[in-house]
Amino acid sequence: MRILHVAAELYPSVKTGGLGDVVAALPAALAARGEDVRLLLPGFPGFLAGIEGLETVCAVPAPAWAGEPVLQRGRVPGSGLVAYVLHAPALYDRPGHVYVSPDGRDWPDNHRRFALLGMAAAQVAAGLDPSWRPETVHAHDWHAALAPVYMATTDGAGVPSVLTIHNLAFQGLFPAHAFADLGLPIALFGMDGLEFWGRVSFMKGGLLFADRITTVSPTYAAEIVTPEHGMGLDGVLRARGSAVSGILNGVDYAVWDPAVDALLPAPYGPADLAGKARCKAALQVEMGLAADPDAFLLGAVTRLTGQKGFDLVLDAAPSLGGLGCQLAMLGSGEPALESGFARLARADGRRVAVRIGYDEALAHRIIAGADAMLVPSRFEPCGLTQLYAMRYGTPPIVRRTGGLADTVADARDAVGTGFLFDAIDPDAFLGAATRAALLRRDPARWEAVVRAGMSADFSWSRAAERYADLYRDIARPA
Ligand code: ADP
Ligand code: GLC
Repeated sequence: MRILHVAAELYPSVKTGGLGDVVAALPAALAARGEDVRLLLPGFPGFLAGIEGLETVCAVPAPAWAGEPVLQRGRVPGSGLVAYVLHAPALYDRPGHVYVSPDGRDWPDNHRRFALLGMAAAQVAAGLDPSWRPETVHAHDWHAALAPVYMATTDGAGVPSVLTIHNLAFQGLFPAHAFADLGLPIALFGMDGLEFWGRVSFMKGGLLFADRITTVSPTYAAEIVTPEHGMGLDGVLRARGSAVSGILNGVDYAVWDPAVDALLPAPYGPADLAGKARCKAALQVEMGLAADPDAFLLGAVTRLTGQKGFDLVLDAAPSLGGLGCQLAMLGSGEPALESGFARLARADGRRVAVRIGYDEALAHRIIAGADAMLVPSRFEPCGLTQLYAMRYGTPPIVRRTGGLADTVADARDAVGTGFLFDAIDPDAFLGAATRAALLRRDPARWEAVVRAGMSADFSWSRAAERYADLYRDIARPA
């Protein structure tokens, strides 16, 4: 089948989180099954530089505010997949973060930047590139969520659509006056349309118009239809009934496997963990921690937002020292969390090392060098960090929510791969950390948990099969 994936991120050219990893891996896994998959990406500098052999296909009809956008076509390095890049310098040619301006606020014209992406997707669905027309459009997150809306209301020519929610906390909410820029029928700015408490919601539009809605784990799919996790959209999601389902993400083991990871100081695998000990020693040196093989080294690689629950770790920090723990953290986000962890590091740099920022290579070295990885999320649609950690023999300590609940088995059980806690509470987190620290003093039992995680298989092929089934379910007869 011909499938067009529409997204704002694609590792390694543009990535702010797990979305970029998924958009790199899922289309490739579908192509490996024989599907004819292409991508549509906004013309961020990262894509103009990262997509190979870009050539112009045609102009893209668009409102005046978009300048004169052009559809370009090239190939994704590595996978060789065809990618369309929507070249619109007036909207996308900006340095730095793709969603946020240098003053720390979202770009003020984000509604235009991502409306254009949806418009272009609908036009590609309708045959903008005469040489290739998709049979399904698969949109990812709010950035692409207007694609199903334009496909159903203006262009699109009857092509079915799928919207995947990677994170319902980000909805693409804009002031009411932004609606005028979208070129949609005014009737759609109502309670049964894109209006959300007086504002415009891109995500809500996608949820209403996509033929199918998926999210990235079965547990999160069940959670988002409840008021507790629905972020105000649970009613809209409930109304879609069986059109909503959860398909667990996978891991790209070509990028995330300690046996082949060129970013590590030493490779290792389940049969020989000596390399992991070397990674730990190297990480302690690199981050200035005490060079102590017996310390229980906790790792964290994360966006520092309320979602991720690291305020619990901050509150629990005084007690972690008593458990013989060290902490190696890489993250960025909310200033209060950044400065809280930076303070801990200043107070005792032999025990706590913190790097504020985004560093792909250091992320790999922390996940490999740590003894256990912290993922104490308040909510987690899927979570990739815990999946990477398991493959790297670094049992994750996670809160039982969303994809974390679906992927980590508690070490209390026969095939345990990590440590779970339930309450959103520093003591509950400490309880799980204490169980982990204790178990580590029993090398045979600890290694059983390490090896169970390393041999767990979260490869993409299973998820790709589920998506392929979904595309066939909604296919329209030719
Ligand atoms: P989310 O997408 O919600 O941030 P995931 O666990 O799905 O959470 O994916 C996070 C991805 O982003 C992982 O690949 C992780 O290694 C990476 N990541 C997060 N923060 C950083 C950082 N500061 N530096 C490098 N990589 C990071
Ligand atoms: C989002 C979610 C994360 C998920 C990722 C990829 O960023 O927060 O849980 O793993 O998307 O689907």
